[in-house]
Amino acid sequence: MKILTKISLLCLLIIVSSCGQEVENQPSNETNQVIETIMARRSIRAYKPEAVDRETMKTILECGINAPNGQNKQSWEVRVIDEPAKIDKLVEAMCSGDDNLDPANVKSIFRGAPTLTIIAKDPGYRFSHIDCGLLIENMVLSAWSLGVGSICLGMPVELLKKEAAQEILQFSEGYEIVLCVGFGYADESPAAKPRDMGKVKFL
Ligand SMILES: Cc1cc2nc3c(=O)[nH]c(=O)nc-3n(C[C@H](O)[C@H](O)[C@H](O)COP(=O)(O)O)c2cc1C
Repeated sequence: MKILTKISLLCLLIIVSSCGQEVENQPSNETNQVIETIMARRSIRAYKPEAVDRETMKTILECGINAPNGQNKQSWEVRVIDEPAKIDKLVEAMCSGDDNLDPANVKSIFRGAPTLTIIAKDPGYRFSHIDCGLLIENMVLSAWSLGVGSICLGMPVELLKKEAAQEILQFSEGYEIVLCVGFGYADESPAAKPRDMGKVKFL
């Protein structure tokens, strides 16, 4: 009986002391790098000409696909274009069949980002647009933490849906483009845009 009590006490001591360690290892808000990255990120609309190196881009894409997603269906597809000639071809395809579209104007909607990603959703899964949004946010935040700027781009989406552009992008049958996200090394430091905490209520 005495031995049993001693063993129980020992177990309790081990549990209590390991709990204490976990609490100690929690970083405070002031030094929390995730929070710092979230609060410091800004949309970037002026870039240096060089594309994001592919190793860094692979890390950003891996962070993207590690986002939470419904039933782990990973109901997204991503295409990456990081060569100027290929971006020009894509722009050409976006302008195809419409003489009123000026390629230089159309290209400007990419805000000069030298690395473009195009994200498409699986139309067969009702939460796919959420999955894509979470993937995008993981990419944008991991990019910022690695010194890479980004810009979410809704404007090119309709033109990217044109057949000529789809032929270049080669998404799986039925996949629908939700957003384009440009990446690159920032050539500006924009100020934070205000946010309205009034939209949030504790109930
Ligand atoms: C779905 C979506 C679409 C967007 N489309 C564009 C766009 O086409 N062009 C652009 O310059 N910015 C675009 N943005 C960037 C927003 O304007 C920007 O995130 C917002 O003004 C807040 O600024 P911040 O990202 O610097 O905090 C888009 C952002 C999102 C999330």
